[in-house]
Order: sequence, then C-alpha cells, then structure tokens
Amino acid sequence: MKTILLIHGPNLNLLGVRDAHLYGTKTLRDIEALVRETAETLRYEVLAFQSNHEGAIVDFLQKESPKADGIIINPGALTHYSYTLYDALRDTKLPAVEVHLSDINSREAWRRVSITAPACIAQISGKKEAGYVEALELLHKNLR
Ligand code: DQA
Repeated sequence: MKTILLIHGPNLNLLGVRDAHLYGTKTLRDIEALVRETAETLRYEVLAFQSNHEGAIVDFLQKESPKADGIIINPGALTHYSYTLYDALRDTKLPAVEVHLSDINSREAWRRVSITAPACIAQISGKKEAGYVEALELLHKNLR
C-alpha cells in the first residue's frame, strides 16, 4: 500500500477554534479522518503529523519521506517565508500538494506569496476541507 504524508504547520492544531469564516468548522482530527476515509477508497495509507515548529516538520519529512509516496501539506504561515521547508520538500523528491483552507489570494498581500508552492506539483486554496480531498485525487493521478 502506498503512503501519503499529511502535514499541518503552526496553529493548525487550533482548527475548529480559529476563525471559522476563514478556515471552516472542522477540527484537525476531522480533516485527518476525512483524508483517511478518502485514502482508504483509493488504497493509500495516511501518516498524519502536525507541529508548531518548523524544524520538527523538517525532521518528520526527512524521517518519513523515504518510505512514503506523496505529500499533502498545509504549512500554515510557514508557506509565506520558509525557505527551509521549501528545501525540505524539494529534498524528498516526492510529489507534494499544498493546501490552504482559506483563499490566500484574497487576503493580505503577504499571504499571496507562497515560498513552498514551487516545491509542490499544485496548490489548492480557498476550498476549506474539500481542498484536501482534491489534493489526494491529484496525487492519485500523479502516482498512477
Ligand atoms: C492557511 C493560510 C495561512 O496564510 C495561515 O497562516 C494559516 C492557514 C490556510 O489553511 O488557509 O495558518 O494555511
């Protein structure tokens, strides 16, 4: 069975409590369950990880990516400034899809910039939790 890494960055442990208008009402657990559910029908295993620390995400990628096949990542605010995460994603050599619950292109100017997206095969933004299902389907097409 192929493995997908599902990674969430800083503050996304607070989903469900954070601004529902922007991020929806689902908790991180709900989103992980939704991805697992979809993944099961496509016969993927999901390894989920969240951290508020950039280095912990890099450690996770370095440890788990050699045994994985694809990545779904919502890097939170790291999206907008983390060259470290860009490098770490590139170094995995795996197809990654960047997901944002909110529409980062219709918010503050600094959010429109994604440092990490060029290390990904696609970016999905503004579709709330449905973006994760789309990301998985994209990865599935890419991995077939
Ligand atoms: C986010 C968008 C980021 O700009 C923000 O820092 C987040 C969440 C999203 O899912 O919409 O923490 O990645």
